[in-house]
Amino acid sequence: MNRRARFRLVILALTAVVAGPVPGFAQTEQLTTVQIQVQDALEACYQCHGPGGVSVIPSRPTIAGQKAEYIRRQLAAFRAVADTTDLAQGNDTKNADAATHIPKRTDPVMEHMAAGLPEHLIKPIADAIASLPCDGGTPKPPAVKAPIRPQAADACVSCHGQDGIGVQPHIPNLAGQRRSYLRRQLLLIRETAWGAQPRKGEAWRTHPIMEAQVARIKIVDVDAIARYYSTLDCQGESAKSKTDAQQ
Ligand code: HEC
Ligand code: HEC
Repeated sequence: MNRRARFRLVILALTAVVAGPVPGFAQTEQLTTVQIQVQDALEACYQCHGPGGVSVIPSRPTIAGQKAEYIRRQLAAFRAVADTTDLAQGNDTKNADAATHIPKRTDPVMEHMAAGLPEHLIKPIADAIASLPCDGGTPKPPAVKAPIRPQAADACVSCHGQDGIGVQPHIPNLAGQRRSYLRRQLLLIRETAWGAQPRKGEAWRTHPIMEAQVARIKIVDVDAIARYYSTLDCQGESAKSKTDAQQ
């Protein structure tokens, strides 16, 4: 490492210490190079995903507090399908292994963001995002009336939980997610179930389990489901029990 690079690293380390704790890492720890790189990367993510990973734009998902394993898989999915033409033909020679694994996903913007991330940072970034507060640290006031789950969402509970919190590490939380983002993802997955193939420069997504779930779902139900999940508290039932305990 030349003197200039070392100088930059020292400045970065100092800035990071002054800027306060890095999400996902204990405050007392000395920041490692990886932790500094993670913090730098997160700043770029916040440009689109909102400050602290809480989205302020309807079409963009909140990533703060999402399941780490799910985030890791999505980043891998966006990275794996850089060449969607090959993938559509089932001969992704560049990344044959990734092509045979689920999920698969394209998005003109996220594809490039994910492709630019160094491999060794994927997991630390996913862990750091998962540790961010999903509400940006400002808990939602308790709902006056509990949102009523539409019947079409009864089938979702076994995986996405009673409260919209995924029951396994690779199943995403839906609670509190942006309504138009959820709506669009459901429609994208439904289109794939009907045979849509990946096209360069367009969003596309496949996941066999989810395709089976939404293949026959009606548009009115998609709307109702997206509205319902977006109104749930992103903290899930644990938020409710905390409020109850205080009363
Ligand atoms: C230029 C804007 C932009 C930037 C910068 C960006 N993203 Fe995204 N991201 C998006 C959009 C748009 C989507 C939704 C894609 C879709 O509709 O499929 C997305 C989706 C995602 C998802 C999937 C979320 C879910 O619920 O499935 C993850 C995870 C993600 N981004 C992580 C990151 C990370 C980590 C970074 C920083 C390294 C980052 N993004 C930077 C625009 C951006
Ligand atoms: C058998 C388990 C299972 C069931 C049942 C299920 N899902 Fe999913 N869902 C998943 C998994 C796994 C993923 C992650 C897919 C991926 O990695 O691309 C997912 C992803 C999603 C996403 C994308 C979230 C995001 O952040 O981009 C939405 C939206 C969703 N599910 C809604 C539903 C709805 C609505 C239902 C009920 C009609 C449902 N799911 C039923 C397992 C399930």
